[in-house]
Amino acid sequence: MHVSVKIPTRKEIEHLGVYVPGKPIEEVKREFGLTDIAKLASNENPYGCSELATRAVIREMDNSALYPEGTAPELAAKLSVHLGIERERIMVGNGSDELIRLLTRSYISAGDEAIMGVATFSRYETNVRIEGGVPVTVPMIDGVHDLAGMLQAVGTNTKMIFVCNPNNPTGTIVGRSELLSFIEEVPPHILLVIDEAYFEYVSDTDYLQTIPLLASHPNLVILRTFSKIHGLAALRVGYGIMHPSVVQELMKVKEPFNSNRLAQAAAIASLDDAPFAQDCARRNAEARRGLQHELARMGLSCFPSHTNFLMVKLGRAGDDVFQALLAQGVIVRSGSSLGYPDTIRVSIGTEQENRAFIAALQRIINDGDEARG
Ligand SMILES: Cc1ncc(COP(=O)(O)O)c(C=O)c1O
Repeated sequence: MHVSVKIPTRKEIEHLGVYVPGKPIEEVKREFGLTDIAKLASNENPYGCSELATRAVIREMDNSALYPEGTAPELAAKLSVHLGIERERIMVGNGSDELIRLLTRSYISAGDEAIMGVATFSRYETNVRIEGGVPVTVPMIDGVHDLAGMLQAVGTNTKMIFVCNPNNPTGTIVGRSELLSFIEEVPPHILLVIDEAYFEYVSDTDYLQTIPLLASHPNLVILRTFSKIHGLAALRVGYGIMHPSVVQELMKVKEPFNSNRLAQAAAIASLDDAPFAQDCARRNAEARRGLQHELARMGLSCFPSHTNFLMVKLGRAGDDVFQALLAQGVIVRSGSSLGYPDTIRVSIGTEQENRAFIAALQRIINDGDEARG
């Protein structure tokens, strides 16, 4: 037994919980003595990554003894051409998780307020709290950000606003014209962070293209990632697009070598493989339609998803269904840890994984029906 350390932490982190990720495959295998596991818990890409990225990583291993370039200049230059924006607007991070951290580290002081939806990606709230800031949460309406409500929540202490579009965990998007007026109305002294981690999956024409607005709105920050459609979650690489002066502030607080060589090489190569990403988006949309159809057949509905995951409304405790699925080798996320206790969030997997999920869920529903007689 270790004696606990009596040195107090900063008071801001005293009551913070540790982030609970989707359960790892290895852990579920050990716990339940299973060999076949479908992990549909972390919105990863079931089709892996581009072959070009794999080859780039292998090649880059020759340089593994050397520190990476701290500002990822080649990747930033490539992104700048790819997106048609100035290179100075791009900040590469160790996942977009790090960019969220850098934003709160740089801009949130004790007592500053940050507005966010509830429920949305939990890292916004955690990082605001770490800095001693105050998260101001505005309930979603049917799983969609209530932008009017968020605007009403703006006060004299508001420093930052987070809009996750599409939103994790509900998968919904906010309407184009609604978001546009919101961006116009947010006062320019408030940093407006729009997290577009899943934008590549969106095909709806009612989705606002935010990049053209950067020039006229210096308070706008767009976050993106290579973890989803590019299938590089393990390598940790994301990027932010923002005013060059904001990039300069984030540069001050980042680790010197925050983005590693393998990640940079893989991300650069991924940008050369548009067909891979397009194929993933197409397969994802098809599989999502199939899953929604199967769920509807079972009498279950979902929030309208524009992403690679579905939040399924169960009408019963998500925890119970999560546990019962786990015992059958299917890992999802219980909605109870995501702000919607009567749901589960399931990532869209391969055909085989989706079939395993549907079959396991059907068995759980049948067992429930039998138990009720
Ligand atoms: C909305 C959202 N933002 C950011 C992230 C973090 O992604 P990254 O792997 O780039 O850190 C995630 C990951 O699931 C996410 O869902």
